[in-house]
Amino acid sequence: TQYPLYDQAEPAGIRTPPQRYAIFMTFDMSAGTVATDLQSLLARWTAASAQLMAAQPIGQVQPTSDMAVGRDTGEALGLDAASLTVTIGLGPGLFDTRFGLAGKRPALLTPLPALPSDNLSAGTSGGDLSVQVCSDDPQVCYHAVRNLARMARDTVQTRWTVMGFGRASAGQGQQTPRNLLGFKDGTRNISEAADFATYVWLRDAGWMTGGTYQVVRKIEMNIETWDADRVSDQEKIFGRGKSAGEPLTGNKEFDTPQFAAQGKDGKPVIAPTSHIALAAHENNGGVKILRRSYNYTDGINEFGQLDAGLLFISYQNNPAHFVQLQRKLGAGDLLNEYIKHVGSGLFAIPPAPKAGHYIGEQLF
Ligand code: HEM
Repeated sequence: TQYPLYDQAEPAGIRTPPQRYAIFMTFDMSAGTVATDLQSLLARWTAASAQLMAAQPIGQVQPTSDMAVGRDTGEALGLDAASLTVTIGLGPGLFDTRFGLAGKRPALLTPLPALPSDNLSAGTSGGDLSVQVCSDDPQVCYHAVRNLARMARDTVQTRWTVMGFGRASAGQGQQTPRNLLGFKDGTRNISEAADFATYVWLRDAGWMTGGTYQVVRKIEMNIETWDADRVSDQEKIFGRGKSAGEPLTGNKEFDTPQFAAQGKDGKPVIAPTSHIALAAHENNGGVKILRRSYNYTDGINEFGQLDAGLLFISYQNNPAHFVQLQRKLGAGDLLNEYIKHVGSGLFAIPPAPKAGHYIGEQLF
């Protein structure tokens, strides 16, 4: 058999136009593991990712011996990869004293500070490693993450996971999709190559050059309360129209918001406490982040209400850019009445390895 090599120009699943489904899972290194365990894990995950992204099983489904278990669990046999990407991240904890890697810590990889409106639970936060798999077929997503977890069972333990659907951000050439609040999400997102170079990929960052930082927030939405709110109030909260997604100072989705424009009453047309006024680069010293989020649902909560929200994922070459925006949003966003940040993680995404090499090889 000819095995595919992991051969990507940049880490997969970041600039990649968002696929329709995602599974995000985090892992902790098991007690007693050492640096070579981490090293072989990263090498094996890289090789398996290449096979999965090429729609191949990661080993025999049907062993030749009656005594053997399968290497691949089989549920993706016959399915297309449906644009599968696997993105692997390294958590801050990997660079503590356990593996002797303190000297290789990516310069900006320290846990996110406490932020206003944090409501985090330990069960949906942190992790030594993150795996983001995205595909247009949910079965392909689940097969990938399941098999990556299964092959590493001797090295890592699962920590938390979120299953996402209905991408809540647009890539180049895609129509803007909607989040579960019914609004278009991703209208003003990074898409130009120059912005990727300036705000997403790391430059002059030693072994991390060409990599980036991944921020993940599990954000619960009170969708039942939201659904009882007047649409005109919902539009004020975002600063945009609901159907077309136009800024309240414009007519079409991609019109540039005019944050200084005033109405007849002398008040700003786009409320200064609206989500877009607080988050826009014009009001944040030019700072931009790449949002690549998904909707999620966890079914029904303990109060019998629909349990759903946004699996917010952003990529930026400086986590402080996310922190700057979330400090403002957490303190003043009109949207806060309807959302709760319950999970959080920060991970370093290493640069793509050269063909035949593996992710994070520079650590060892
Ligand atoms: C814009 C939804 C959380 C940063 C938007 C827009 C929507 C939206 C509908 C307008 C369309 C667009 O330009 O994409 C949400 C929802 C959230 C959430 C429902 C939580 C459940 C966040 C967080 C951040 C963030 C946590 C970062 C800390 C931004 C930025 C923009 C934006 C930078 C673009 C603003 C502009 O330039 O006009 N969001 N968002 N959002 N959001 Fe969020």
